[in-house]
Amino acid sequence: MSNYIELKKISQSFNTNDATITLFNDLNLVISQGESYAITGPSGAGKSSLLMLISGLEEPTSGQGIYVDVEQKKTLKELRNDIGFIFQQFHLLPELTALNNVALPLKLRGDKNAMAKAKVWLDKVGLAHRVDHKPSELSGGEQQRVAIARALVFEPKFIFADEPTGNLDQKSATEIANILFTCCQENNAALVLVTHSETLAARAQHKYLLADRQLNQTVSPSDLDTNNIVQVASC
Ligand SMILES: Nc1ncnc2c1ncn2[C@@H]1O[C@H](COP(=O)(O)OP(=O)(O)OP(=O)(O)O)[C@@H](O)[C@H]1O
Ligand SMILES: [Mg+2]
Repeated sequence: MSNYIELKKISQSFNTNDATITLFNDLNLVISQGESYAITGPSGAGKSSLLMLISGLEEPTSGQGIYVDVEQKKTLKELRNDIGFIFQQFHLLPELTALNNVALPLKLRGDKNAMAKAKVWLDKVGLAHRVDHKPSELSGGEQQRVAIARALVFEPKFIFADEPTGNLDQKSATEIANILFTCCQENNAALVLVTHSETLAARAQHKYLLADRQLNQTVSPSDLDTNNIVQVASC
């Protein structure tokens, strides 16, 4: 049995000056290592907020999120060492070059080969020619690729990606999706995607729709076609 994250009866709401915004109530979800998940839904439904709760980066208003490691008991803080997060707004460090942004998670873990590994990853996401550029010197799509390399460089057990192909053209989006799904397969990692792209969502093993404060599992046409298994490049 694999490690998993379990959300039990999670509710999330925000108090603003004039109203309380309730995103969802009593939501249950299990994310298992080695499996891929896609969450779609209208803008403002709460997808990014839900991703922050699943990854343990934020606390729900009520309910419980647990990380079950089948071999040892772990705290949510330890889950933090096992997650790679690609934020919708990238959150790259503006003063660091692309190379140093990608190397940072490895350096924080004391990896002596941080720079060499970061270079390999920038190459994988097609940015070998931009290693010395700072985020302000990169296009939106290029910043997205740096953010993806930074999230994957230390081979995390759980990968969270908020609109990972949102700023990319069709060809680049397919390349990046290939990298994400391959990493998930080769490292036995969980991949949790939030996306508005039906094409990207269809590649995940488990698909959910977040709308009207409810999270429901959905089936895409490709699920019915057993020959539709996408072959992807090496991670
Ligand atoms: N810290 C906060 N305080 C108050 N309201 C918030 C907070 N965070 C999110 N919200 C509100 O919760 C709602 C859901 O936001 P969220 O960013 O999760 O949506 P989303 O589904 O990711 O949308 P999109 O597809 O546009 O990225 C929005 O109406 C947003 O204004
Ligand atoms: Mg969002």
